[in-house]
Amino acid sequence: MLKPSRLSRGLRFASQTPPRDTRYARINDADLKNFEKILGKSYVKTEEIDSFNKDWTKWYSGNGACVLLPSTSEEISAILRHCHERRIAVVPQAGNTGLVGGGIPVHDEVILSVRRMNREFDFDPDTGVLSCDVGHVLEELEGKVGEFGYMMPFDLGAKGSCLIGGNLSTCAGGIRLLRYGSLHSHLLGLRVVLPDAKGSLVEFGSELRKDNTSLHAHHLFLGSEGQLGVITGVKMTCVTKPISVQSAMLGVNTFDECRKILRIAKTKLGEILSSFELMDRETIGVLEDNLQFSNVIKTNPRFNILVETSGTNIDHDREKVDNFLEYCLSERLANDGVQAKSAEEHRLMWRLRESATIALTLDGIVFKNDFSLPLHSFYQLTEEVRARVGGAAKRVVCYGHMGDGNSHLNVTSTKENADRVYKMLYPFVYEWVVKHGGSISAEHGIGQLKRPYVNLGKSTEERNLIRSLKTLFDPREILNPYKFL
Ligand code: FAD
Ligand code: MLT
Ligand code: ZN
Repeated sequence: MLKPSRLSRGLRFASQTPPRDTRYARINDADLKNFEKILGKSYVKTEEIDSFNKDWTKWYSGNGACVLLPSTSEEISAILRHCHERRIAVVPQAGNTGLVGGGIPVHDEVILSVRRMNREFDFDPDTGVLSCDVGHVLEELEGKVGEFGYMMPFDLGAKGSCLIGGNLSTCAGGIRLLRYGSLHSHLLGLRVVLPDAKGSLVEFGSELRKDNTSLHAHHLFLGSEGQLGVITGVKMTCVTKPISVQSAMLGVNTFDECRKILRIAKTKLGEILSSFELMDRETIGVLEDNLQFSNVIKTNPRFNILVETSGTNIDHDREKVDNFLEYCLSERLANDGVQAKSAEEHRLMWRLRESATIALTLDGIVFKNDFSLPLHSFYQLTEEVRARVGGAAKRVVCYGHMGDGNSHLNVTSTKENADRVYKMLYPFVYEWVVKHGGSISAEHGIGQLKRPYVNLGKSTEERNLIRSLKTLFDPREILNPYKFL
């Protein structure tokens, strides 16, 4: 995976950093010795750990003095037992591709990396159930289940670096959710180590598709961002690999027409529709300027829609996509439409969409967002933000998983203007989203980025209940402190 630019390194908005909580012990030599006893000397790192202390966006950096690299649940249990007894704060970390600063320390928390948790892999081709440790890279799992004719039910641009444990902990979305549903639809069971006095190892759920013998408590850990327990293993369903994958791009004049096209895609492509992604003209601009990519649609449309289908019959699926394109063009909903006729054309279309993130990091300081919005106000926010930040920002771009109502409104600025742009954007955009019935995190999570705004639109009753769940799982509050729970 491409690396982000170094332009924004070290940026941090001081108002968002809570002070160090003095209830937490600072680690000492005796703690390190104990960790070495549990893991062996090589897997307790105190040097060359900068990459574990900085997040992918380079917005956040912590001061974790040590990185622990366990390879079994039992080792994690022994670590958490010790940390509970000494009240040492711990941050679980997987592939460190998160975009909200959730997986790195805020102060001096110990970093517990699950990268070496990649021994178990078991797949049942009859049921499509995958049972594995959480340290597997998503792309590697895709390859392994692919050998059985299956694929993972979700896919993201960070697939080459993110780990399944991180995906579960953020409840990652991505580009297949429209077709296969969220990770909740696929989760069957989890192995979790709790940060309690015993370092309890709990198996939740089972590998059965249907099992109503208990509360489905494992679902609480999806999207819990490492604040309830350390997930060490998963049982989940995979989906059969499509035989035919078709993609097409459309050039569209107005957002209203994009909405109409989505409805038509749902009816005309029906069961084979697997992605419906949006890129506005400004997104294409950043790809052209910073990566020298050219758009597949040559008429520089206001909006670009990328549609993908996944099915079992190439001729049938191509014909369906042809009919869909023809309909959109003849009804003048789209000005332009191209169907990928080769694997290379398909790759070029997806390269545009998946490279938006990296192209933006080359632009300067990036203010990233991942909103869920009702479709009638989906693009209105981008237009309002454009008018609001005016000449202070470099670019205001919108792309995203439109089929899921998930907009990625990104604003870039120079380093000099960053503070000004930040103040123009926040809390304005978050309040706007909540007021319009949306969510301030569709998929990336809260982490450090959105922590001050996590209560927006939430009732006191809900907040109190969730706080008491946190205390139940993590009585001394040692797991990933200073974050949203
Ligand atoms: P990390 O970043 O290491 O951790 C994420 C969070 O999970 C942290 O809070 C951490 O404490 C916690 N955690 C990690 N492992 C465990 C564990 N075993 N037990 C308990 N807690 C744990 N996200 C999307 O949803 N959709 C996208 O389309 C998407 N595209 C992306 C594209 C790019 C180019 C990049 C850089 C990121 C993208 N992301 C996307 C964001 C990111 O990749 C996802 O959030 C991913 O799920 C994070 O996985 P990770 O392994 O890197 O986790
Ligand atoms: C995406 O959909 O490309 C990802 O969520 C990353 C981003 O928001 O840039
Ligand atoms: Zn996304």
